[in-house]
Amino acid sequence: MNVIIAESYDELSKIAANIIAGQIKEKPDSVLGLATGSSPVGIYKELIAKYNAGELDFSKVQSVNLDEYVGLAPEHEQSYRYFMNVNLFDHVNIDKSNTRVPDGLAADTDAFCKAYDEYIDSIGGIDLQVLGIGPDGHIGFNEPDDHFTAGTHVAVLEESTVDANARFFESRNDVPKTAITMGMKGIMTAKKIVLVANGANKKDVLFKAINGDVTPRIPASLLQLHRDVTIIFSEK
Ligand code: F6R
Repeated sequence: MNVIIAESYDELSKIAANIIAGQIKEKPDSVLGLATGSSPVGIYKELIAKYNAGELDFSKVQSVNLDEYVGLAPEHEQSYRYFMNVNLFDHVNIDKSNTRVPDGLAADTDAFCKAYDEYIDSIGGIDLQVLGIGPDGHIGFNEPDDHFTAGTHVAVLEESTVDANARFFESRNDVPKTAITMGMKGIMTAKKIVLVANGANKKDVLFKAINGDVTPRIPASLLQLHRDVTIIFSEK
């Protein structure tokens, strides 16, 4: 694991964006695994700036997102599809038909999850996966459990996750209690992983994920077994 301590959130975002930009330049048809939440917003701003400066071409890039709330339509302002459009896709020349976010309205979620994994396999797997980390150590919405779940699945969100995400909704009651998430196999088979975390409240869980036992109680700890993980943390 390559652990980088950044001075600020801006620096963290720039370092991560440079890694992603390098990936796209090296392989223009890269498959990016993307995350939502507050942590990657700065990365997406940096990528948009690089695109506007003529440094990046997203025309061949494909993307698969980690997760989506069950029950939210793509147009819902708190859906992760909406987030991706507003924070990245609408501002660069990515072909939206090459972007995938789990379908929160899928009628048959089991069939959807299976098809999502098959789709990721069919495009050759993920070249670079962007991750945040939840206060309970979740990645994607792989919540602490007695076991790791390999495939894309429906996860029941921990109370602490609902609490953490309530800031994006009008009230805590509006936060969906389940989400479709890529499983640990989708994440762990990515060729390269960049995890970003900022804020003092992420410090302890990140320390445990990096230095503690590999355990499904702290899902991010499984990243210790991956060959190419960069973790960028800024306390501010
Ligand atoms: C989002 C995701 C989540 C977040 C995590 C941290 O797609 O998969 O694991 O990365 O909950 O969220 P923030 O960045 O809002 O603290």
